[in-house]
Amino acid sequence: MSKPKIFIANPVPNHVEEYISNHCEIVKWDFTKPKDFQGILEIVKDVEGIIEVGLKIDENLLSKAPKLKVVSNISVGYNNFDIEAMKKYNIIGTNTPGVLDETVADTIMGLIINSGRRLCEAERDLRAGNWEKGDGDKYFGKDIHHSTLGIIGMGRIGECVARRAHLGFKMDILYYNRRRNEAAETKYNANYLTMDEVLSKSDFVLVMTPLSDETYHFMGEREFKLMRKDAFFINASRGQVVDEKALIEALNNKEIAGAGLDVFEKEPTDKDNPLLKMENVVTLPHIGSATQKTRDEMAMFAAKALVDVLQNKKSDGIVPELR
Ligand code: DGY
Repeated sequence: MSKPKIFIANPVPNHVEEYISNHCEIVKWDFTKPKDFQGILEIVKDVEGIIEVGLKIDENLLSKAPKLKVVSNISVGYNNFDIEAMKKYNIIGTNTPGVLDETVADTIMGLIINSGRRLCEAERDLRAGNWEKGDGDKYFGKDIHHSTLGIIGMGRIGECVARRAHLGFKMDILYYNRRRNEAAETKYNANYLTMDEVLSKSDFVLVMTPLSDETYHFMGEREFKLMRKDAFFINASRGQVVDEKALIEALNNKEIAGAGLDVFEKEPTDKDNPLLKMENVVTLPHIGSATQKTRDEMAMFAAKALVDVLQNKKSDGIVPELR
């Protein structure tokens, strides 16, 4: 039996490519060249599967891919999927739930500590030769331990952060989620409140909701005004969950104390984005899951999901809306 042809749109580790090649015929993007949509359309017209990161899967692409059966994201976020279009074309979409939770939670703790304790700001000064004796209160920050963490979006990653924060840092955990998460309440003494209450009571507000029509610009002017002036805003989900202009305004007007961001509305973000110039904002280039081990596991998870779907097997990777 001939193997199904699939398109590898982003680099994957060798052992993952080898696994896929045992089951599929592979066509790869030429990774020495930047991606262009016309080139992608040329490839997808006769493939049954795609494995990729962040490729927009919509009517535009699907109408040019008559043999396509499955698109496998090497990411847990799948806001690149136009679910309605995928339903219309009968396409299965998969993501990588679970394998990156602990790694992303580590990054989030890093953002919380670095923003609250101003570590990046102090390090920038030190590197610039500006360490003066008797700096007094120059680098005074906010304690992380025993402070209050508000988590908006208590899913798997939110829970991993709650565990670290509650058990390790003795933080009080408040949360808002569409559905109540009783396990988090029992394990981490998390307190289920309205979103407005979480915003107004927390020292650190972490947004971890997936991006959807419902959560687009979930954090806007009104929400930042509800936060305390001494509170920090942390985002490691998707940039578009936040109205970035409103965040910049809130920071400029000192309505909040600072922010820790792994994601931006536009990625890669422009180098003149004001957020990159603010001393009280810790910025990262979307590296939440970026460890060798986790990225390898994500790629293998995605590859297995791709092959399983092509072989009509069950897969835990299929996104809920397309099961
Ligand atoms: C994901 O998997 O969606 C993460 O954002 C990648 O770091």
